[in-house]
Amino acid sequence: MQLLEDRIRKDGKVREGNVLKVDSFLNHQMDVNLFREIGKEFQRRFAGEEITKILTIEASGIGIACVVAEIFNVPVVFAKKTQTKNIAGDVYTTKVESFTHGRVYDIIVSKEFLGKGDKVLLIDDFLANGKALEGLATLVQDSGAELVGAGVVIEKGFQIGGKLLRDRGIHLESLAIVDGMDDKTGEITFRKQ
Ligand code: G4P
Ligand code: NA
Ligand code: NA
Repeated sequence: MQLLEDRIRKDGKVREGNVLKVDSFLNHQMDVNLFREIGKEFQRRFAGEEITKILTIEASGIGIACVVAEIFNVPVVFAKKTQTKNIAGDVYTTKVESFTHGRVYDIIVSKEFLGKGDKVLLIDDFLANGKALEGLATLVQDSGAELVGAGVVIEKGFQIGGKLLRDRGIHLESLAIVDGMDDKTGEITFRKQ
């Protein structure tokens, strides 16, 4: 998506350790006009698919998922992250391992909000090692809902997540795929799509 790549080049900051900071428009301050264009692009890429629900994960996926849900005119649910051992109530839950943060956490969704008959599109801001989206896909599977696909704003193409999800047969659409970053020059290389 050209508009998004241009914005990443203009306002993204390349940090040591292959980290891309996009706090001015995606991860802290949020440019909802850009979000709307992103939502429309997901609509084009998933055209012809029946989608009845958007599922994301807290925290930074929520903003983008809400705008996408408005465009698809469907409800949006976010999985909650918790480290509580005893989860009260009727929930689907699975473990997610964060390499970046070096910890394992549980994600949960109430059975009330996900289940048989739902046709689910996963939305997230970043795809790195893919553990968060894999966890969400597992929750969808456990609930008996149908997984239509996954839409990601920025995929780090040099990390394993994209391959993991595609190999699992998930229809993944990433609007910008970063294949390389140089923290000395600030140069960012995008994959041709
Ligand atoms: P993954 O396996 O789910 O892909 O995530 P990973 O543990 O590799 O990354 C941990 C967190 O860092 C994720 O957010 C992910 O979105 C985010 N992340 C990974 N690489 C980058 C990057 O280069 N730039 C930015 N801005 N974020 C990155 P999280 O901690 O799960 O979610 P949240 O609490 O921030 O929403
Ligand atoms: Na994040
Ligand atoms: Na996220």
